[in-house]
Amino acid sequence: MLHPILALFLLCGLSTVSSLDNGLALTPPMGWMHWERFRCIIDCDNYPDDCISEQLFRAMADRLAEDGYLEAGYEYLIIDDCWLATERDSEGRLQPDPDRFPNGIKALADYVHDKGLKFGIYEDYGTNTCGGYPGILGHLETDANTFAEWGVDYLKLDGCYAATEGMEEGYAEMGMYLNQTGRPIVYSCSFPAYKGLDANYTAAVEICNLWRNYGDIQDSWGSVKSIVNWFVDNQGYLSQFAGPGHWNDPDMLIIGDYGLSYDESISQMTMWTMMASPLIMSVDLRTIEPEFRDILLNKDAIRINQDPLGIPGLLAKKINNVYVWTKPILPQVGDKYSYAIGFVSFREDNPIQIEVTLDSFGLDNADGYTLNNVFDPTDPVTVSVTDPITFFIDPSGGVLLEVNPVGSKKFQ
Ligand SMILES: *[C@@H]1O[C@H](CO)[C@@H](O)[C@H](O)[C@H]1NC(C)=O
Ligand SMILES: *[C@@H]1O[C@H](CO)[C@@H](O)[C@H](O)[C@H]1NC(C)=O
Repeated sequence: MLHPILALFLLCGLSTVSSLDNGLALTPPMGWMHWERFRCIIDCDNYPDDCISEQLFRAMADRLAEDGYLEAGYEYLIIDDCWLATERDSEGRLQPDPDRFPNGIKALADYVHDKGLKFGIYEDYGTNTCGGYPGILGHLETDANTFAEWGVDYLKLDGCYAATEGMEEGYAEMGMYLNQTGRPIVYSCSFPAYKGLDANYTAAVEICNLWRNYGDIQDSWGSVKSIVNWFVDNQGYLSQFAGPGHWNDPDMLIIGDYGLSYDESISQMTMWTMMASPLIMSVDLRTIEPEFRDILLNKDAIRINQDPLGIPGLLAKKINNVYVWTKPILPQVGDKYSYAIGFVSFREDNPIQIEVTLDSFGLDNADGYTLNNVFDPTDPVTVSVTDPITFFIDPSGGVLLEVNPVGSKKFQ
């Protein structure tokens, strides 16, 4: 039983799908975005440290650059909604709220770039953003040029206040104007989230580097589970559209916020790693607890997520409500791939013992595999494909294993 996406990959190299060719997002984008944690806080008098303002983004840029996140791969600092003034300027251009961004967006982008980071911003394809600020409809070319002049490297384009009919064409038109600026800009689309499975996903691959498929994540384990269940229910359809340069996006990592326990944080990191999802944090990096930071910075998890094959993992089985994903990764030895195997308990009662063998996932390297337990590393263990692998998994806990065929050099 070969992993179905790997089978497709080997068959046609997935090259028959024509995809956006801007050279960007060849692995899932990594960064930080304000929405889930900071929302639309615009009252800087009462919430000076948390309001959507240039101080907040400068502070986060400092933390990204100085606390190991940039080094680990989290390179995009992305402003979400509520940065805009309520009106365009006298020449019809977008402008930020003057009180909260007194130095303008260009100066903020320069600050972010000086830290070695890339700069992302939010807009909306419709007449208004979801927060009610001016949208881009009727101003696509002007706004694409404004973003390029400011030094934007990543655009999240939401879909509030827009007709869903014709959205694909509208997003394509904006993509054309972005391309015409000559500035490489990661293009994150939202029409699939607004149109559901009626969205033209072939068009999404052609137009966008990534796209939100589903509703916003909220700060709870229940929200994480509902998103994952939707992706699992539709994985056979969705996974065919993901690959280098074009990704499904189940929304931000909420690790380190109020809603997830330590175990649940490992579980979210495990699932986002397995699904080859963008790793976009939304957490206060000034106050995050070190144990949560360590989850976000786990080198092996990030390497698996960023694997150059870009094959999204698929749920292979459920064992007593423990979900098990497999994902082919490098390195390979001959025709034997390495694999990541992610286990996440959706149970709410007791921990249980898991016992699996690698051959039950179709792995068949005769010399066996070396085993790496990503969040609980031990000395390397070698297992044959019929050796039982056993461990306990907590309710809502996660275990991420990496297995490399014996004889492979660990991929760097
Ligand atoms: C614009 O599109 C062309 C054709 O797909 C591509 O080769 C080029 O890299 C794109 N440029 C930018 C800046 O995205
Ligand atoms: C979906 O988009 C593709 C690529 O742009 C296009 O060829 C196809 O006709 C579209 N399908 C529908 C049903 O509109």
